[in-house]
Amino acid sequence: MAQSKSVKDYIRTIVDFPHEGIMFRDVTTLFADPRGFRMAIDQMLHPYAGVQIDKVVGLEARGFILGGAIAHQLSVGFVPIRKKGKLPGTVISQDYHLEYGEAVVEVHDDAIEAGEKILLIDDLLATGGTAEAGIGLIERLGGEIVGCAFIIDLPDLGGRKRIEALGMDVHVLCDFEGA
Ligand code: PRP
Ligand code: MG
Repeated sequence: MAQSKSVKDYIRTIVDFPHEGIMFRDVTTLFADPRGFRMAIDQMLHPYAGVQIDKVVGLEARGFILGGAIAHQLSVGFVPIRKKGKLPGTVISQDYHLEYGEAVVEVHDDAIEAGEKILLIDDLLATGGTAEAGIGLIERLGGEIVGCAFIIDLPDLGGRKRIEALGMDVHVLCDFEGA
């Protein structure tokens, strides 16, 4: 009997996007498949069975798709961390480095209460800069991060080690070498 597909099998690779030499790991094919999407959500949540989680925080943009589904599954609230200028209320901001240049992410300053247990969600860990910025925002609001879950890690870019060095519990479903 053919072996059943894993989460990784549903992820499509697009060569030379957005730049020549980049292998883009495209999770839209995973999200579009009902079995693949449910498998990804279930596996992202697996280590946190029995763990208290008060809110799910998702990183724009693909972290919203996953984080919304995970928050619904847990019956807890969802908080978006957005790119600069998108949130209408009072925000706190965090700068971070991208491969080319700088970026800023923001969260509403009343979105998390001190002491709330937070699960941080995104689709992919590359350098870890985006996740580190998100962690900084959550911690500035007093949130206690119980875990950071991603579908993909690109180990060659060191993001996982960087986030673990911050004392975080990191959970990923698959990795792609030679990113
Ligand atoms: C991608 C990905 C992660 C981030 C990872 O998002 O979805 O959020 O990069 O990279 P890093 O670990 O080096 O920070 P991107 O910034 O392309 O934006 P998007 O999710 O809004 O498309
Ligand atoms: Mg992203």
